[in-house]
Amino acid sequence: MRLSSKHTPRTPTYLLPCVIALSLFSLTALLLYKVDNVASRTGTVVGHNLEPTPWHVFPTKPFDEETRQSKTYKIIQCSYLTCRYAVSDGIEGRSLSSSAVGDAKRLDCPDFFRAIRKDLEPWKKTKISKGHLNEAQKYAAFRVVIIGGKMFVDWYYACVQSRAMFTVWSLLQLLKRYPGLVPDVDLMFDCMDKPSINKTEHISMPLPLFRYCTTKDHFDIPFPDWSFWGWPEINIRPWQEEFPDIKQGSQAVSWKNKKPLAYWKGNPDVLSPVRAELLNCNDSMQWGAEILRQDWGAAARSGFKESKLSNQCNHRYKIYAEGYAWSVSLKYILSCGSVALIISPQYEDFFTRGLVPNRNFLPVNPQDLCPSIKRAVDWGNKHTREATAVGKRGQDYMESLNIDRIYDYMFHLISEYSKLLDFKPTAPSSSLEVCSESVLCFADEKQRAFLSRSATTPSETPPCNLKPE
Ligand SMILES: *[C@@H]1O[C@H](CO)[C@@H](O)[C@H](O)[C@H]1NC(C)=O
Ligand SMILES: *[C@@H]1O[C@H](CO)[C@@H](O)[C@H](O)[C@H]1NC(C)=O
Repeated sequence: MRLSSKHTPRTPTYLLPCVIALSLFSLTALLLYKVDNVASRTGTVVGHNLEPTPWHVFPTKPFDEETRQSKTYKIIQCSYLTCRYAVSDGIEGRSLSSSAVGDAKRLDCPDFFRAIRKDLEPWKKTKISKGHLNEAQKYAAFRVVIIGGKMFVDWYYACVQSRAMFTVWSLLQLLKRYPGLVPDVDLMFDCMDKPSINKTEHISMPLPLFRYCTTKDHFDIPFPDWSFWGWPEINIRPWQEEFPDIKQGSQAVSWKNKKPLAYWKGNPDVLSPVRAELLNCNDSMQWGAEILRQDWGAAARSGFKESKLSNQCNHRYKIYAEGYAWSVSLKYILSCGSVALIISPQYEDFFTRGLVPNRNFLPVNPQDLCPSIKRAVDWGNKHTREATAVGKRGQDYMESLNIDRIYDYMFHLISEYSKLLDFKPTAPSSSLEVCSESVLCFADEKQRAFLSRSATTPSETPPCNLKPE
């Protein structure tokens, strides 16, 4: 009946749009809330939502983003959207042809690559299980999983300055350099200075943990440090720019015209007994040494003009003293072509295992510090030919350690390590894919400039040949 329908209560016409609008509004709010929630729980390469490592606390850095919304936007954009839409690096088609890999002209790797097998020796029999990695996680700042040439990172703690960014970048460049050759892998990384897997304490179950240095008493596995790709905070450029520049700078003054003194410039306030002791040798007449304090604050204010590494090769002798642990400065000291006076180091990094005392450096005895420096300086000033040869061999060693060899070291270390895994790596559900684009997305302007300059391209040649055992 038509009439009755007139009397049935009807939904007022304006209500429907209201309900729709309200639902849309709630949905959007819920979505925003969810997105915000996800963003506030996502660890990032610059340290968003991460605490500093508890074993080495450092002041957390302020972030660029002014508002919570811009931070949320950046995290979602860089962490969740960038790699998905990044141009694929074309793993297929661009990989080295097998004929190239089998090429007889393949270079043999430098001798010091032998250290790779020695570093991995503890797991040769036991292999590396998921259990090893779960234990090693307690000491790690992040976990790197590579699957089919894609890289995933699970963040546990923030790293000081831009170490995490440049280390993740170095691995991404390795993937780019050798497309299709880097095997699937699952590894734990700590980015702070001091080795932590003490051989005595972990003898029953050695834990595999990658970091920048190790000692004879630790199981930690050394990996090339971030500064080979750049250290923007103190203006150290990528190695392939820094080394040639230092070498050229070192030739600006002839040996004869270099100061016949031993030079050290650094920060003595880093809980390093040997650096404190070094201050006592600051007497050019008595000890033949010039010891200076590096003031990074002043250097930064002057745009690092004074602290340019290539201007620091004007002494015949350069002293290397460890700081809180190993120091990235050794490579720059050796690059000068001056005689490196190395105060017997406790820490090793990946390349120092190839240095030979009295061949590419002179050892200095920390128990007899100032007299030991003085003896080296006196010897060198009397034996010009021998001394210049030691300096030259130190510089040649660093020249042979070009970025190609560094990628090769990473490649072989990761390949040998992956052979030890007794399981098939899978990306943990809490991990996120990272790619060059997502790292660049998080980088500030200065970092981006350094990263771009250390970007690599696919290699024309295969990795060097790691000699069989
Ligand atoms: C390793 O641990 C043992 C036992 O706790 C300790 O005596 C030793 O000093 C530690 N070694 C290092 C290098 O820290
Ligand atoms: C070392 O001596 C020089 C010259 O006497 C002085 O300028 C410099 O400040 C001294 N270095 C330190 C660390 O005190």
